[in-house]
Amino acid sequence: MLGYDYLPSELIGRDQQLIELASMFAGLENPNSSGRAVITGPVGSGKTALSRRFVEDISRHHAEKRNIRWLHINCRNNPSPTQVMQRVIQYLSPGHPDRGLGVGEILASVRRLLKQSSSHIIIILDEADHLLRKSGDDLVYRLLRIDEDQDSTGSLSLILISQEQILDLFEGAVISRFGRSRHLRIQGYDKEGLFGIAKQRASLAFTPSSIDESIILLIAEAAAASGDARVVIDLLDSAAKSAELDGRSEVLPADVQISSMVKAGNHVEIIIDELATHAMILLTAVCRRLKNRTEITSGDVETLYRVVCEEFEQAPRGHTTLWKYLKQFEECDLLVARVDRLNEGRGRTQHFSMPHMLPADLEKRLQPLIKKRLRA
Ligand SMILES: Nc1ncnc2c1ncn2[C@@H]1O[C@H](COP(=O)(O)OP(=O)(O)OP(=O)(O)O)[C@@H](O)[C@H]1O
Ligand SMILES: [Mg+2]
Repeated sequence: MLGYDYLPSELIGRDQQLIELASMFAGLENPNSSGRAVITGPVGSGKTALSRRFVEDISRHHAEKRNIRWLHINCRNNPSPTQVMQRVIQYLSPGHPDRGLGVGEILASVRRLLKQSSSHIIIILDEADHLLRKSGDDLVYRLLRIDEDQDSTGSLSLILISQEQILDLFEGAVISRFGRSRHLRIQGYDKEGLFGIAKQRASLAFTPSSIDESIILLIAEAAAASGDARVVIDLLDSAAKSAELDGRSEVLPADVQISSMVKAGNHVEIIIDELATHAMILLTAVCRRLKNRTEITSGDVETLYRVVCEEFEQAPRGHTTLWKYLKQFEECDLLVARVDRLNEGRGRTQHFSMPHMLPADLEKRLQPLIKKRLRA
């Protein structure tokens, strides 16, 4: 359930995108009709999942009216037109002798097979930039024209997928030919979307008692900067492994923090030694609470800060200064802030968490630094 290839029966927060795709395939239940779409979006935004969910749903939905088959081909592993077409023919007719056949011959066989079985095929060319870069847009062009000058129509539908960055490559070759209205651009996930995805996966992979919702939120916060669904799935998996290694059945914040720390790109840009003394004291207070909780409220931050001040026999700084330090921690990704929606009416309660670092480690590093400062 924590594998990337697992396709959930329901996608989180992609209803609108599924509707848009459906409009590009309107009428597909009728013989002679076909659809086409281009999907682009950043890494881990669910392009592959969206396309697979869509074709599975639409073929099932129209099953009584039309025999719609579908095939997902990853062009990274099949970058040449011949490889792509061999995949198609093997799918339609397993064992079909395809050795030595040219693309044109395979296309003719595909058309014949579809006609014979009166079926329609939706081909998903995923990571299509690999195909385009290697061999240009010739195959896409021929697939789109498969019925031209023939006695058949609507044999085949096409979905092309690519990451957003290579839109230029797509622009001339594909999007202009598909039509701009058939281009679906999807965005990376925000924290809420990632939370939903993490929650769905966790419910499939864990027993409810082994992972608390606050841990799932911490995972979503750790992944939020990337917008990548794969990061939350990855963090769930490594946090679970970390708990297991420790002989626990319950996942704790530290499991997430350790996993997030070792992932590239989650680098916290903070130079602890250069912090103001009271920023260090404030951070100590935050760390103490976050050693065994996923979050601390802004109110508790101030209360605990005063306790730590007392320990070090320091007069506490005012609210504004503390707030400035908290903002500073947030800016360097050391802390993540969340505003409590339920409490919005009664003044804004902020909740802080530390998804990318281990609070216990940080506290240990701060202790001698504060003492040194106070001696000086
Ligand atoms: N909306 C969603 N609801 C539930 N799971 C999702 C959703 N979006 C993505 N996932 C899951 O996240 C993982 C990554 O998604 P997917 O492979 O579709 O991303 P992608 O955009 O194709 O990434 P890449 O650009 O690397 O190809 C998959 O395991 C997928 O099932
Ligand atoms: Mg993909």
